Amino acid sequence: MLIRRRPGWAIPETAREAAATPEAVFFNRRQILAAGGIGLAGTILPGGPARAQDQDPTADLYPVKRNLTFKIDRDITPEEFNLAYNNFYEFGSHKRIARAAQRLQTRPWTVRIDGEVERKMTVDIDDLIRKAPLEERLYRHRCVEAWSMTVPWSGFAMRHLVEMARPLSGAKYIRMETFQDPAVAPGQKQSWYPWPYVEGLTIEEATNDLAFLVTGAYGKPVAKQMGAPLRLAVPWKYGFKSIKSIVAFTFTSERPQSFWEEILPNEYGFWANVNPQVPHPRWSQAEERVLGTDETVPTQLYNGYGEQVAGLYSGLASEPLFM
Ligand code: MTE
Repeated sequence: MLIRRRPGWAIPETAREAAATPEAVFFNRRQILAAGGIGLAGTILPGGPARAQDQDPTADLYPVKRNLTFKIDRDITPEEFNLAYNNFYEFGSHKRIARAAQRLQTRPWTVRIDGEVERKMTVDIDDLIRKAPLEERLYRHRCVEAWSMTVPWSGFAMRHLVEMARPLSGAKYIRMETFQDPAVAPGQKQSWYPWPYVEGLTIEEATNDLAFLVTGAYGKPVAKQMGAPLRLAVPWKYGFKSIKSIVAFTFTSERPQSFWEEILPNEYGFWANVNPQVPHPRWSQAEERVLGTDETVPTQLYNGYGEQVAGLYSGLASEPLFM
């Protein structure tokens, strides 16, 4: 089957899709109207589909203080774009999954920490979020499809979760897994995909200061289509590494095989670090289309985060670090 060999998101943006971007704004407006989010003055609240997030039991925690260490040289992508243009294959193999993703029940939600750790545990998401040292960071996000955005994520450094788990000496990698529930996520009925979505990092990557566990965005709990209630943001890697709606972190001695690596191992690898000089087998990675403005800008090595992360790969030159 064609889709088995070439997932939709792996095909670069066509002019048609790019031209459809304003539609994304319209879609979001309709969503806001449906949620009663239009202010009395008739202005559209930047908050997006407010109802679901108002019910979030951690909503009182946001907005959180911005950590100014994480500076950005671009404008923040307007929230409407981020809410209406998503990759979340569980809800469909196209970008307009926002409405379908509202079926995801994000409470109750537990997160399992297991494998080679001193402290195996299952934690309730609200306990985890309330105990975490939340902060806001502005990060670039570069999808392997050659589009990009800039997002104000809220969350906490992943190293706090690693410290909480106390990995044993044998633990070299962290395998992360998304929920599995085909009754709410129709994409998971497509049995040719190796569900659930899985991603992995080395312990060194996960404890690098940039690795961030996201609980919020744009000053409130993260929207379902963006990966509520807990997703990863590793901005120096292609976007598919930033797994959404995480239910488990397993510490392991073996390198996990990630979802897209299992489907197309010659196109998507474990490392997936951004590099404009290493083309995807089917398209160039030299430039990217900025979501919201449609401007085309040069892509940067490690998506501009080389200073913080290049050292992680110093002894690994023989590895396919950029796919
Ligand atoms: N996580 C899950 N569970 N399922 C997915 O399909 N898509 C990935 C990543 N995380 C995906 C996922 C890809 S390809 C990208 S580019 C980002 O999520 C997109 O995040 P966004 O929709 O918030 O832009």
